Amino acid sequence: MEQSDGLCVNNCRRCPALVESRSRIVNGIGPEDAGLLFVGEGPGQTEDQQGEPFVGRSGSVLDEALGEAGLLREEIRITNCVRCRPPENRDPTSDELANCRGYLYSEISAVDPDVVITLGKVPSQHLLDRSVAITSEAGSIVETRFGDRPQRLLLSVHPAATLYDRTQRETFFETIAKAVDIAGVGGGARSGNGQSRLGEF
Ligand code: URA
Repeated sequence: MEQSDGLCVNNCRRCPALVESRSRIVNGIGPEDAGLLFVGEGPGQTEDQQGEPFVGRSGSVLDEALGEAGLLREEIRITNCVRCRPPENRDPTSDELANCRGYLYSEISAVDPDVVITLGKVPSQHLLDRSVAITSEAGSIVETRFGDRPQRLLLSVHPAATLYDRTQRETFFETIAKAVDIAGVGGGARSGNGQSRLGEF
């Protein structure tokens, strides 16, 4: 039987193709009262194997950017728009996104973060319900509502986009530093000269 406690989903079989392609459901991870909630697209192969979001190459970039901004992964919450790995790492379909939407909204509502950081075009479009040109909108803050709840979003490029593109890497690192500044967290793991990479926003 399908079960969800607002944060974790067990036994969901709503998406036949994803039930076929997944090894397991990959739920969000991190403190249930985190100030920062990162939302990615969906689990890749490594996440599907390990059962945790962002543990592959994209996760390493995220960890690095968090570290520069003075935060550890353990201090933030990370989840995805869909919790099951799409076949061949394709984008989730609109039906799959819709099937998983309620779980994501429940998680956002339970965590009640200061900021939701959307990692890439898919989560940005999904949560804003409009088309997003992510390279030009990355770093922008958008006030939205989920039902009667106001929620601040910070749009970001996906960490995978930084792997071969220096400019996107800078944008990504600046966006993560901005998220940390907005939420007023961080400081513990900061490396380098201890200065925020983005003084004003
Ligand atoms: N990319 C995502 O969007 N989510 C993950 O969990 C891993 C990679």
